[in-house]
Amino acid sequence: MQTIKNIAVLTSGGDAPGMNAAVRAVVRAGIYNGLNVYGVYKGYEGLLNGDLEQLQLRSVGDIIQRGGTILQTARSPEFNTEAGLKKAMSMAKVFNIDALVVIGGDGSFRGAKDLAELGMNCVGIPGTIDNDIGSTDYTIGYDTAMNTVLDSIDKIRDTSYSHERCSVLEVMGRNAGWIAVNCGIAGGAEAIILPEEEFNIDEDIILPIVQGRNRGKKHYLVIVAEGIGGAVDIAKYIEEKTQIVTRATILGYIQRGGTPTVCDRVMGSRMGAHAVNCLLEGKKNRIVALRDNKLVDIDLFEALSMSKTMDKELINLSKILAM
Ligand code: F6P
Repeated sequence: MQTIKNIAVLTSGGDAPGMNAAVRAVVRAGIYNGLNVYGVYKGYEGLLNGDLEQLQLRSVGDIIQRGGTILQTARSPEFNTEAGLKKAMSMAKVFNIDALVVIGGDGSFRGAKDLAELGMNCVGIPGTIDNDIGSTDYTIGYDTAMNTVLDSIDKIRDTSYSHERCSVLEVMGRNAGWIAVNCGIAGGAEAIILPEEEFNIDEDIILPIVQGRNRGKKHYLVIVAEGIGGAVDIAKYIEEKTQIVTRATILGYIQRGGTPTVCDRVMGSRMGAHAVNCLLEGKKNRIVALRDNKLVDIDLFEALSMSKTMDKELINLSKILAM
């Protein structure tokens, strides 16, 4: 039941490794199924400015291994106004766009909802390193970001051991602690501080470090999620209280770049193709999601009301293993 002919794809919000795989899949699955596929540059800002062009099979060659997004991305204050939204809708009309595939996070999906309310058929693909979207168990870019963080942890561990130091590492994730908790476990952190959990600096950081030292530990790692922040102050406090030389490292944008892992390339490819299938099946306003290890799609409006709760088992495990 194919009622559409022209679709467009954009990436929005913070970029994430694997977005290119998703763009590539939308373009190639679209063309394979007889659709014309347009690439919109710089997210919603590009849409309202008419910055789009038709993509061919070769337009997305040689991109699956690249981090970032070839379509670029932007935060658009104008799109968040009534006039900006209308401008975006009329520009979509100029190009005869029947449906829009939006690759991004929660903020990007809210933009898709605004367009959907004006009549545009939108399908969202979750792409953010934060893994903080309620409707899906996985977001494109999360695995690559975690592997980047882990690589840094392993390097910091080498020098921490040599100098018998403590390191406080601040990792991204906006208001969610998914990157922090998993990398903390994988990197053998003494303490992991998350936005989802109350913490007491003396009990949750100083005590495990001192106890570890008494058992013969030679180096210490504290992971602080971005949603808590203050890595530099935490490091100063640790040094003051324990006399262990402590350094803070804020990883920042290193976590958003880099070559995507197998997981993100395959997930991006699967989610991109799934989004096209939704449109070919005549579905309207969907979010592609991974739930219980299955690729599904759910109503866009419903998806936006879903929230994600932190996995308490992971937190408990991290505490047991930190001994
Ligand atoms: O959502 C991805 C992310 O990197 C978050 O982890 C971080 O809080 C935010 O984007 C940073 O955004 P910006 O690109 O505006 O600095």
